[in-house]
Amino acid sequence: TDLSRIRNFSIVAHIDHGKSTLADRLIQSTGTVADRDMKEQLLDSMDIERERGITIKANTVRIDYKAKDGQQYVLNLIDTPGHVDFAYEVSRSMRAVEGSLLVVDASQGVEAQTLANVYQALDAGHEIVPVLNKIDLPAAEPERVARQIEDVIGLDASDAVMISAKSGLGIPDVLEAIVHRLPAPKGDRDAPLKAMLVDSWYDAYLGVVVMVRVMDGVLKRGDRIRMMQTNAVYPVDTLAVLRPQMVSIPELGPGEIGVLTAQIKQVRDTRVGDTITHERKGATEALPGFKPAQPVVFCGLFPVDAADFEDLRDAIEKLALNDASFTYEMETSAALGFGFRCGFLGLLHLEVIRDRLEREYDIDLITTAPSVVYHLYMRDGTMTELHNPADMPDLTLVDHLEEPRIKATILVPDEYLGAVLKLCQDRRGIQLDLSYAGTRAMAVYDLPLNEVVFDFYDRLKSVTTGYASFDYQITGYREDALVKMSILVNDEPVDALSMMVHRDRAEMRGRAMVEKLKDLIPRHMFKIPIQAAIGGKVIARETLSALRKDVTAKCYGGDATRKRKLLDKQKAGKKKMRQFGKVDIPQEAFISALKMD
Ligand code: GTP
Repeated sequence: TDLSRIRNFSIVAHIDHGKSTLADRLIQSTGTVADRDMKEQLLDSMDIERERGITIKANTVRIDYKAKDGQQYVLNLIDTPGHVDFAYEVSRSMRAVEGSLLVVDASQGVEAQTLANVYQALDAGHEIVPVLNKIDLPAAEPERVARQIEDVIGLDASDAVMISAKSGLGIPDVLEAIVHRLPAPKGDRDAPLKAMLVDSWYDAYLGVVVMVRVMDGVLKRGDRIRMMQTNAVYPVDTLAVLRPQMVSIPELGPGEIGVLTAQIKQVRDTRVGDTITHERKGATEALPGFKPAQPVVFCGLFPVDAADFEDLRDAIEKLALNDASFTYEMETSAALGFGFRCGFLGLLHLEVIRDRLEREYDIDLITTAPSVVYHLYMRDGTMTELHNPADMPDLTLVDHLEEPRIKATILVPDEYLGAVLKLCQDRRGIQLDLSYAGTRAMAVYDLPLNEVVFDFYDRLKSVTTGYASFDYQITGYREDALVKMSILVNDEPVDALSMMVHRDRAEMRGRAMVEKLKDLIPRHMFKIPIQAAIGGKVIARETLSALRKDVTAKCYGGDATRKRKLLDKQKAGKKKMRQFGKVDIPQEAFISALKMD
């Protein structure tokens, strides 16, 4: 295809502002999918997704469009993941296209994810067309929101396209804006092949499917290609474009986007951002900016029932095959037995994996407190990464400790600002900026990631009754006075409950933890001391008093079946507990104890 007739773009939006609805309309109004197939199509793909757990990229699509100037154009829409955990994937897909539609809900206005995503698009050098959606709603205020886009983002919104993705109003204007306001791609057909690996996923029939954007050169079916990062060589079996179902194509030239299969065994063997070239006469220099996705949050996953360990191993290995950003290694805990220390891109990623293990593989899990990665600078001048507070070495060996920091952007209606500032302050935040756009405030904070991983987002939602929007990026590492706090139950340290805390806040956190644990641990036949300690020094202590009476006593001795029922119930409850020394600790204690209210 002639480069001047290609337009590649993505849609950036805050969640629920209408990205998927607009994508569907663009697909439908250009006849890419026939009207009568539209609903069926979407339903089908959802069923398949549910049944086989495949990601279907319905929002990545090649559209043929005949513009009002009479010319035929090829429009490639690339979907980008919306969540901050996948910021790196977003930034790669942005580099595969030249422009973005910035969709803002005209009844809501600019939100934190709008900002985060639009900055990524600007970073990638995109031309941006603002689109105001949902103008059919009585609450829509397109003029105000256009002004907000200019004030907050600094983008000219005077010729923003006004649409209702729901009714279809304004969709032809969006198509014309794509053609006339977004730039055509550049590239050299005669140069050695350089294609960017944008995304990859596993398909039950085809195996690993790789999405690529060709920058220079031509990619043909049958070519032997080399992944420049891993140096692996594969023959290209199929080459296709997505409409949105796969349609075979003999070649992909510069500026084009498509998918290939090449007998690649695992999604793990494909690295988002890698450069694909030919095995012979290939490019010598890769495309700039590749970096492997780095896990930033770690936690331990242990089976509640030790007999499930092998099942857990199988399940984790299977999940890891298709998710290169998820890491794991075996871990043994004195308290929890055999399990795995796993690394994730963020909390959402952690929750997704944990849910899948529990639901799809039916394994009851104990999740230990999420921890960030600390940098330990040792007295001998070396640096090591600390993924697990339980592994914290003797303090006399450590010179100093650095923790990851983030830049957080929070948008919130005025009336909740006070609560948000207090929350950020409580979490050791440093205010970087505070500004207003209409009745909304935007607070930018420098925060330690370890204060955010656990329950910051939940707290933020609760203190603003859901009105705040939040986004963050990791900015780097900084030294701080951090110490390891251990928890002792009945004088035995419970390694899965140890955590890194700031020295000034250790006592408060320690006291909160032991009070919580006192409520969470059931009483036993003996007295149980619960303590928080730093080094050998106890900083907080509670005592759980002993249980005096037989639990069945309240059945008045009479009814034998009632008695048995009660004992059975107790036994079932036990399944969700783990024994520490002589003490049973319920599964939920590991998470609940760490939440701060
Ligand atoms: P995620 O996929 O969750 O990120 O959201 P999204 O940005 O893709 O939004 P989606 O297209 O799912 O739309 C969110 C909701 O807004 C849905 O209930 C849509 O029906 C509704 N919606 C989208 N466009 C319009 C519109 O123009 N007018 C009205 N009234 N509702 C709309």
